[in-house]
Amino acid sequence: MSTSYQIASIPGDGIGPEVVSATIQVVEKLAKTLGTFQINFTHIPWGTNYYKEHGRYLSEDALTTLRKYDAGLFGAVGDPDVPDHISLWGLLLAIRGPLQLYANVRPVRTFPGTKCPLNTATGGIDWMLVRENSEGEYSGQGGRSHVGQPWEAATEVAIFTRVGIERIIRFAFETAQSRPRKHLTVVTKSNSMRNGMVLWDEIAASVAKDFPDVTWDKMLVDAMTVRMVWKPESIDTIVGTNLHMDILSDLAAALAGSIGIAPSSNLDPTRKNPSLFEPVHGSAFDIIGKGIANPVGTFWSAAEMLTWLGEKDASAKLMQCIENVCAAGILTPDLGGSSSTQGVVDAVCSEIEKLK
Ligand code: NAI
Ligand code: MG
Repeated sequence: MSTSYQIASIPGDGIGPEVVSATIQVVEKLAKTLGTFQINFTHIPWGTNYYKEHGRYLSEDALTTLRKYDAGLFGAVGDPDVPDHISLWGLLLAIRGPLQLYANVRPVRTFPGTKCPLNTATGGIDWMLVRENSEGEYSGQGGRSHVGQPWEAATEVAIFTRVGIERIIRFAFETAQSRPRKHLTVVTKSNSMRNGMVLWDEIAASVAKDFPDVTWDKMLVDAMTVRMVWKPESIDTIVGTNLHMDILSDLAAALAGSIGIAPSSNLDPTRKNPSLFEPVHGSAFDIIGKGIANPVGTFWSAAEMLTWLGEKDASAKLMQCIENVCAAGILTPDLGGSSSTQGVVDAVCSEIEKLK
């Protein structure tokens, strides 16, 4: 009997529901066509509508609910009616931290049909970005005093722990080791930030000893932006803090061709908790309901989910179908095409049909 996976589907806000429903169609079609695994998506209505009704983004038993699933597929959170820090902390950050989804993995690759603005020998880039996802600058520590006064003060405290740094750096070395180039760049800012970032550097040097077959270097985050643009071929796997990699991964997605195709995985590498897979983009207010959201970032996230669940072969086949469709020029407007979201879904489903 084939394995059956239970997936929590959390479409969220904005174009989230559009790209998640597109992805469910494609993954269900893949499972049915291959017949090698089964997959069931259960809809969970968390998001801004839920917040407007219940005064909270997640149900009270959200973590217990999520733990019943093998993985989660998430769309986006964010609504023009609610300040972004309320929505982000209410939903996404309320899951990532408590479930200890500490590794945020973002593959970045130039796709057929996308244009890499860089002048590289291969015509594109192929990087793996690893972002610390549970602490750092997004720990939520800090406060505001003298609110509204001219002398108002606010602090945002970055928390870096030995446990938190060591586990992400180890994960990044393992990731680099699994790739053909076996090269890791550790990004910090240890010149001006002389405590937490220096601890990152020290731990990187110590963990590196366990990976003699992986070459590595370190880079200050500002210099890394320059290297990404001018020496893209020198880069393979990158690891850095929550904030630094948040920014570098958007830059990387743009350099690869589009934010609309960029996937991400929020992983608990210990596998004690279900991991959460989501496109890098947000709610995209400007295109909601127009039927033109690019679903590829969510398709690719679902492919990453299948790999994580152990369905490597199905994942590779799905990626091939997506790439064939992009190569055939069936693209949404953000990539210069004229296809609708559903047009891309139908084209990928036809490619999947050919796998029979
Ligand atoms: P965004 O990613 O939503 O949009 C940026 C630009 O990219 C827009 O022009 C949008 O139309 C375009 N875009 C994004 N995804 C696309 C897709 N799949 N297909 C075609 N075009 C696409 O970022 P923005 O505007 O900064 O944020 C909007 C809202 O989303 C905010 O509330 C923000 O907090 C939230 N957000 C949520 C994220 C998440 O849930 N993980 C991540 C980023 C932002
Ligand atoms: Mg971001």
